[in-house]
Amino acid sequence: MADLMLGIETSCDDTGVAIVRPDGTVVASAVASQVELHDRYGGVYPEMASRAHVDAILPTVRKVLDDAGLAPEDLTAIGVTRGPGLIGSLVVGTNSAVGLGDGWGLPVYGVNHLRGHLRSADLDEKRVTYPAMVLLVSGGHTLLAHVQENGDVTLVGSTRDDSVGEAYDKVARMLGLGYPGGPAIDRLAKTGTPDVDFPRPAKDLELDFSFSGLKSAVSRFLAANPDHPPENVAASFVEACLDVLLTKCRRALEQHPSRCLVVVGGVAASPQLRERAAALCAETGVELCLPPLRWSTDNGAMIGLAAWDYRARGLQERPRPTTSLTIAD
Ligand code: KG4
Ligand code: ZN
Repeated sequence: MADLMLGIETSCDDTGVAIVRPDGTVVASAVASQVELHDRYGGVYPEMASRAHVDAILPTVRKVLDDAGLAPEDLTAIGVTRGPGLIGSLVVGTNSAVGLGDGWGLPVYGVNHLRGHLRSADLDEKRVTYPAMVLLVSGGHTLLAHVQENGDVTLVGSTRDDSVGEAYDKVARMLGLGYPGGPAIDRLAKTGTPDVDFPRPAKDLELDFSFSGLKSAVSRFLAANPDHPPENVAASFVEACLDVLLTKCRRALEQHPSRCLVVVGGVAASPQLRERAAALCAETGVELCLPPLRWSTDNGAMIGLAAWDYRARGLQERPRPTTSLTIAD
């Protein structure tokens, strides 16, 4: 059987493995989550994350092959996240991939994690039309990129400090909601009223973002108003984040004509963000491309699909882990 890419993702706290075809069909996928491990620390504990990847990676590869009813010799190649991310976690993924590639006689492609998120919108079926404006909102990144059909990426906006996912996680921690904070904040926010007027940071930063001031504003508000309903604090925080994200998307679409708006990364799992993005697209006549929820957060399938692009461009070199890639790399 031809055309089967094994995708491996270990940049943070999820061990993701999948087998993907060049058209985005996901033959099998599994994600070994470390959420329970990190919950007690209120965030990702890097050294524990690396060790957990060591334990999980080979069983997860085995599970995916078994689920697909495939043997290693059926595979075409391996794609693995080489960065950006936690260096120890990346080392486990890239070394494992190189070892498997050597053992099985397969080429190994080192994939930019951000390009993986970008390609997540074409998993299961082709959705993205070009030129595309991509809003990438994850735990590590918040950026806007203009992407052409040939894969050329122009970074048009990024965060000056924290990512929006980081702000969700920190505010969740302030509210005692545990880790990861995004889904918990979303659930709580739905039951509240946005009655606190938190600042909308980065209004003047053109297409750039800034979330650390908002995070501090929530912290100061909670210290001064400890009895304010937490659901209202969560709802007000979400409103402030979404206002900023959508204002910048609108501005980006005005400045860079695009056929579609693609929203990817862990925070793209937020139902509130999905609704607001749909409203913006309906108003501006731009198509909306959203990956299914399971492909929004980190997974091996998006890395597998992106690896096909590297293969098509002949970009094969022994993957070296790095923390410093941008989306244009
Ligand atoms: O893309 P991702 O899985 O990992 C990184 O590459 O960083 O994103 C993780 C981030 C976390 O900050 C998490 O709180 C956030 O995505 N997240 C959400 C939701 N699910 C995950 N944020 C808002 N709403 C969600 N439903
Ligand atoms: Zn990610």
